[in-house]
Amino acid sequence: MEKQYKDGIEYPKELDNNDRLGPFRQRFLLTKGVIYMCGNSLGLASKDAEEAVLTVLDKWKDHGVKIWNVDDGKYYLYSGYLAELMAPLVGAEKDEIAFAGSTTTNIHQAISTFYKPTKDKYKILVDDINFPTDRYAVDSQVRLKGYDPKDAVKVIKSVEEKFLNEDDVIEAMTDEVALILLPAVFYRTAQVVDMKKITAVAKERGIIMGWDLSHAVGAIEIDLKSLDADFAVWCTYKYLNGGPGATSALYVNRRHFKQLPGLAGWFGNKHETQFLLRQEFDHQQDASGWQIGTPSLLAMAGLEGSLKIFNEAGMSSIRSKSLHITGYLMYLIEKKLVQYGFSIGNFKEDSKRGGHVCLEHDEGYRISLALKARGVVPDFRDPNVIRLTPTALYTSYVEVYNVVEILLDVIKTESYKQFSSKRNLVV
Ligand SMILES: Cc1ncc(COP(=O)(O)O)c(C=O)c1O
Repeated sequence: MEKQYKDGIEYPKELDNNDRLGPFRQRFLLTKGVIYMCGNSLGLASKDAEEAVLTVLDKWKDHGVKIWNVDDGKYYLYSGYLAELMAPLVGAEKDEIAFAGSTTTNIHQAISTFYKPTKDKYKILVDDINFPTDRYAVDSQVRLKGYDPKDAVKVIKSVEEKFLNEDDVIEAMTDEVALILLPAVFYRTAQVVDMKKITAVAKERGIIMGWDLSHAVGAIEIDLKSLDADFAVWCTYKYLNGGPGATSALYVNRRHFKQLPGLAGWFGNKHETQFLLRQEFDHQQDASGWQIGTPSLLAMAGLEGSLKIFNEAGMSSIRSKSLHITGYLMYLIEKKLVQYGFSIGNFKEDSKRGGHVCLEHDEGYRISLALKARGVVPDFRDPNVIRLTPTALYTSYVEVYNVVEILLDVIKTESYKQFSSKRNLVV
């Protein structure tokens, strides 16, 4: 947080006036009177995404089953079409990216492909603070291969259940480790992990390296080519604004294109022979060979619109505004809120923090409810974290200023005390 910020409402107004990404805000469907700070969980709809979804709907209405062939087979090859839009954001080649299923199913797909345990090399290395679905998938894959997760899943202990120390990861890469799955950015504390350092050692030691980029893609710059990991997965409904449950992405390093997918299905068959419907699987030798069944066009279409916005804005501008606006939020928190029991739970250095600010308070849950009642949408993660995400594409500096003023009011008036601490089903 090296930048200098100023207090007062005139300052954010001036920042908004000079914001090169400011015009992108008009492309999003914002609700009047609501300050949306939850793009880390579910990104907002854009006009571009809406148009793309409506186009698919129209094609279906007009063409029925012929939708797969219209526009030169665009929708039959939709995963590849979206991969071309996605590739510049993650520094991969387009044929190394496929869109299919959810992040969790893509983890299953990747592990079932790359995890080939032997008597001496059979462990999967994970951490203890990742989003739990990754762990559920890893444990079940290990069980499918006949191992006990208590033995075959090696868990790196985090520091204070908050941060991962890269040197601890490297120390844990012993001979019996066959595969590593780690997040690039942590969902709670927004820690950016040094992927380069870890991947380089994994490669040296002959360990398959997979990254979950769910909280990284669209928030930080990623260069999969120079990283040279074996696989990566990410969801597209967070920073990428693809829509609730939008189809997820899978990256497979081209050096693995000849491998058979662990979970084969007819949409992973070579395009030229798929509709010959032979009994033998003849897999497409690029990332789309890892697709399984018929893609959900309606769950992919939003991405067509939103990825176009990302390509227009460019990841480097997005990252630099994100760092600046989250830095501004941290500045206001330190100036106005710390004295009321709030603390910042993320690293403050630019290189170590992702797209959200992790605001901690013992009454975090009830405060998050009070914020919602005042028209601010954050989210909450147990035990005490309010995640606040001013996104580069649609959050203004004035909104950030107002969020902190509302927090100040909520804490000073203790208005959060009228809410129950009983957790809702979705928090
Ligand atoms: C790191 C990480 N992986 C995966 C998921 C969810 O995966 P899925 O797309 O299968 O719901 C999340 C959801 O927040 C996540 O944070």
